[in-house]
Amino acid sequence: MNWWETDFVSVRDNRLIIAGRDATALAERYGTPLYVYGKDRILDRYGRLDDAFTRYSALPGRISYAMKANPHMGILRLLQRRGAWIDAVSPCEVETALKAGFPAERILFTGTSVSRADLRFLFGVEGLTINIDAPEQLDLMSEVRNGFPGRAIRVSVRWNSGIGRGFNPKAITAGKRSSDGTPIKFGVEPRKVVDVFARARKLGFQPVGLHQHIGSGWVREDYGMVLTAVDRMIRKAREIEKAGFRLEFLDFGGGFGPRYLKSRGLFPVEDYIAYISRAVAKAGLSVKALVIEPGKFMVSDAGVLLLGVEYVKESYGNLFACVDGGTFNTVPRPAIYVSAHHEIVNASRVDGPHKARLTVAGNLCETGDVFGRERLMPLPQSGDVLAVLLAGAYCRSMASHYNLRPIPREVLI
Ligand code: LLP
Repeated sequence: MNWWETDFVSVRDNRLIIAGRDATALAERYGTPLYVYGKDRILDRYGRLDDAFTRYSALPGRISYAMKANPHMGILRLLQRRGAWIDAVSPCEVETALKAGFPAERILFTGTSVSRADLRFLFGVEGLTINIDAPEQLDLMSEVRNGFPGRAIRVSVRWNSGIGRGFNPKAITAGKRSSDGTPIKFGVEPRKVVDVFARARKLGFQPVGLHQHIGSGWVREDYGMVLTAVDRMIRKAREIEKAGFRLEFLDFGGGFGPRYLKSRGLFPVEDYIAYISRAVAKAGLSVKALVIEPGKFMVSDAGVLLLGVEYVKESYGNLFACVDGGTFNTVPRPAIYVSAHHEIVNASRVDGPHKARLTVAGNLCETGDVFGRERLMPLPQSGDVLAVLLAGAYCRSMASHYNLRPIPREVLI
């Protein structure tokens, strides 16, 4: 069995099978490039988290899907019916979640650089909770609030504990600076948090929660540091409660990833939920619910991108599998983040004796437009189908029309 095989992608007769269907038949039926998502796999991911809360937590666990990972309407409806909550980061995401049937009470809006126009929209959505990213955001909220007299507005505070963790400097969202030196824009500094709660209450808002999101793409190796961030959050929650606020929820954000690379360990998500549950119980907080905001975990490995091979090119000794899609239009992660890896499989002949080292090159006018560099795989023939794995999260949602190429069709099976 290959390390990347799951109940969603597997191999039969040397061909790739996606959710029980032959990948090349899917490519033929719907055309390439094509995103294929699996309902059962997404529900399985949800179930794992839900079961862990049931097993380890005395408090209800809210699984708040970070819809920025993949806002496909079918996926949203599926998770809505299953009881998920939503992490939304723009007014349009809030609107889309409402359209998918999520009640406003199950949506937490976490913005950054939040505008007056954003706030006017958000205040109009009754029942929504707004996560405050900056003390300065409260000034704008107080100004815009005048247009909404008598409306109870629930707020929480996103704080920045000083610890961040992510697979790439661009995906570390807490701390003073990221690992490449970029100042980190998110959250409220520890020493300012209690004051933001006090001011929010004074201004007539209802402060109900504390939130953090420290980064994205954690693997096993990140576990220790992530737990330290959890400990800090719980200490801060105690301080807030001591200052006279009752917290309804603690939201630990998302970040735990699937395994994109064979060499990385899997983040122990059940242990993580058990740890949070124990630590909150021990701290004796009055909190009524625990929240996590998975994006990658929910959908990454429930999605595949299928590409058609047009021809194999040789130049200066380099071999290229030239495919019918471009990274920016389909799976932009490797072109944006040097450290983002997506396994690529020849769906038409998964294994074989004539292996070659090929760079999988897209159809855009840009050297960086490669899905994978010098990957070992059976030499493709024109008409073969290549599958880019773990393409369910942050692929379609970050795809653009660069070079005026279309964004592929999506099927949820
Ligand atoms: N909560 C908040 C407030 C977030 O900003 C994010 C992701 C999540 C939850 C979900 O994180 P996840 O469980 O998916 O790691 N474009 C990057 C990822 C950026 C994530 C941004 N925030 C990528 O392609 O890896």
